[in-house]
Amino acid sequence: MKDQMGYELTGGTAQALDAYEQALHEMRCLTGNPVATLAPALAQAPDFAMAQLLNAWMHVSSTELPAIAIARESLAAARRLALNEREELHAAAIGQWCDGQWHAAARTLEDLNALYPHDALALQMGQQLDFFTGDSRMLRDRMLRVLPSWSEEVPGYHAVLGMLAFGLEETGDYARAEAAGRRAVELEPLDAWAQHAVAHVYEMQGRREEGIRWMHESTGWQESGFFLVHNWWHLALHHLARGETAEALELYDGAIRGNAASMMDLIDCSAMLWRLELAGLDVGGRWTGLADAFAPHAASGNYAFNDLHAAMAFARAGREDLLRSLRTAQAVALTRRDDNAEFVTAVGAPAIEAMVAFAAGDHAQATSLLRTIRNRAARFGGSHAQRDLLDQTLIAAARSSGNASLAKAVETEREQVLGYREFPVQGRPAFALAS
Ligand SMILES: [Fe+2]
Repeated sequence: MKDQMGYELTGGTAQALDAYEQALHEMRCLTGNPVATLAPALAQAPDFAMAQLLNAWMHVSSTELPAIAIARESLAAARRLALNEREELHAAAIGQWCDGQWHAAARTLEDLNALYPHDALALQMGQQLDFFTGDSRMLRDRMLRVLPSWSEEVPGYHAVLGMLAFGLEETGDYARAEAAGRRAVELEPLDAWAQHAVAHVYEMQGRREEGIRWMHESTGWQESGFFLVHNWWHLALHHLARGETAEALELYDGAIRGNAASMMDLIDCSAMLWRLELAGLDVGGRWTGLADAFAPHAASGNYAFNDLHAAMAFARAGREDLLRSLRTAQAVALTRRDDNAEFVTAVGAPAIEAMVAFAAGDHAQATSLLRTIRNRAARFGGSHAQRDLLDQTLIAAARSSGNASLAKAVETEREQVLGYREFPVQGRPAFALAS
């Protein structure tokens, strides 16, 4: 049996193949519920190796501990089968990620795509890893390597274009990013990742009206999916930068917090509430409920970027107990000496101490810590737009601690990058180099 790209599949059935291909499509678009779509294929054909491996990918990429346990089970089921070369490489990369070897998993997927350039799942999981490890260059180059093998006639091409658009945006090539992302959404209006790549272009260039129009005129992304909250978050960023705090808060209460289910969604909630406060808004008791939502993840200690956003909620909600659990879990994480230990050491731990200091009103300490990490913050992942929170906080901290000249210097840097002045004084760093 072969998939629609002509690649050999171990252990599938015709019926299971249909569900598998549909789940892959939903995954590429980040629409629907690919986990539920795939479930019948796993039930009908438990020896369908790529179905098990896709299930593993969907769970491990959530970065949530309970889901990683499910990923391990699916990986074990796949490893009991006689896998072909491509399936073996998928299994190896999943195993590496489950074991905290994020960089090695990303490289294994490079090797896979060098042999199988049409494996869009490997490209997508590779780009997720590049994102989580802050590797801007590979966000772009992973796609450029395979681009000559693709064309609009190849099914799934929209996804490659959408991923390329995001890579081009994160490396500052905004014109090409915008064109690629817009073409991807023309080809597949449900492609929420391509939609998102274009939203990033407008974010980085401060093109707020176009950003708002883009999110309202192309609405396939709004239907469903894992990425709904994050795209609403991008729309709220555009409103916030225009000083439209009421619109941003309304989006927070409705589409963002109201739909938040996963760790990625909670990250967006924390990042938005923090920005709203920096913009001078009273967010009332919203941190309390958000801290409760983060509580089950407090002691996860498996990804520094998640920990930071949880810690921000705990600090603002006054949940010292949860902050203690989080710090203890990070101390244990450091003993594992895996890639997350590096994320924690380089950026995660000092970033938490900076934000906790800021929340406690120790703005001089926050300023000092943020200055040490801002230029290496890419090493714990996320996008330029997400990490911009550190710069925004630095400006506020510097100003509040009497360091007006530093606040002004960082503000000026941002104005020069953007070429115009936003409210509240925001902007974007030129492109930060990845690790
Ligand atoms: Fe984003």
